[in-house]
Amino acid sequence: MGEVLRIDDDCVSPAEFNRLREADFNRIAALIGSRTGIKLPPAKRLMVEGRLRRRVRSLGFADLTDYCRFLFEENGLNDELVHVIDAVTTNKTDFFREEGHFTVLANKLVPSLLSLRRAGSTPKLKLWSAASSNGAEAYTIAMVLADLVASRNINLQFVVLGTDISTRMLAAGEKAVYPAEMIGPVPAGMKQRYLMHGRSQSRQSEVRIVPELRRHVRFRRLNLMDESYPVERDVDVIFLRNVLIYFEKETQEVVVSRLMGHLRPGGFLVLGHSESMIGTSLSLTQWAPGVFQKPTANG
Ligand SMILES: C[S@@+](CC[C@H](N)C(=O)[O-])C[C@H]1O[C@@H](n2cnc3c(N)ncnc32)[C@H](O)[C@@H]1O
Repeated sequence: MGEVLRIDDDCVSPAEFNRLREADFNRIAALIGSRTGIKLPPAKRLMVEGRLRRRVRSLGFADLTDYCRFLFEENGLNDELVHVIDAVTTNKTDFFREEGHFTVLANKLVPSLLSLRRAGSTPKLKLWSAASSNGAEAYTIAMVLADLVASRNINLQFVVLGTDISTRMLAAGEKAVYPAEMIGPVPAGMKQRYLMHGRSQSRQSEVRIVPELRRHVRFRRLNLMDESYPVERDVDVIFLRNVLIYFEKETQEVVVSRLMGHLRPGGFLVLGHSESMIGTSLSLTQWAPGVFQKPTANG
């Protein structure tokens, strides 16, 4: 008897269908590493595969291999890079994430910054959420500042800049609409003051930041890997939280020192708790876990 023909010989098992080939993953990892600084070790292959599949489907490519051929061999990158970056960035964020930083902001950093301003003028504080994701961090900062102005009757103006590399996240920040389950960490009084609930049936599971708060916050695309940043150099507080962890050590140092150049003397850099050790190697004064001050003009 000849060889038995297995009837599933030519079938691709569901698990094999539309996989991201190792060579393609390596090309994507190299591209993302060079353009964004984000490390994509082999363990991230499944994650990248899952996220890019959505893009492949929406564009109507046959599979991931076809899509990667388009990216790397048919000049597809020009238009697609932004979407590949959107797909691979990790955007996890929350309102009042690492809450202690916001208590320190209200009770220590703002008073210190105001004490360095000339008496008599209305100070304008500039705060920067330098990897803002969907804007939850930027709006948290704005809520804290707005409450400070109202409750302590402090005379100050403030603006918050949110920047990120992901255009999808920046669009979410600009829209300022969040699922209701995301607002759990916002203190009750602030929920009343700064969030509006959707009226229509379909919008009831969403909240939107009120316009009075939104007008203090703006969003811009900025790649922390760029050699210079088109941002003023007298920023009072830079939040750089939960992004350095995705970068190589040398990149972390370069990004931090570039950002320091945008802080005014006496300004503050706030790093995520898992990144706060990076700050201890800088010649800065530590005020709280992850919170560092640039020397004042008098040293
Ligand atoms: C995990 S989120 C952190 C969000 C927020 N800072 C927080 O702590 O909740 C990291 C963000 O960094 C952004 N990111 C990654 N690489 C970047 C780069 N090279 N330039 C600017 N943003 C970047 C991602 O798009 C993502 O939104």
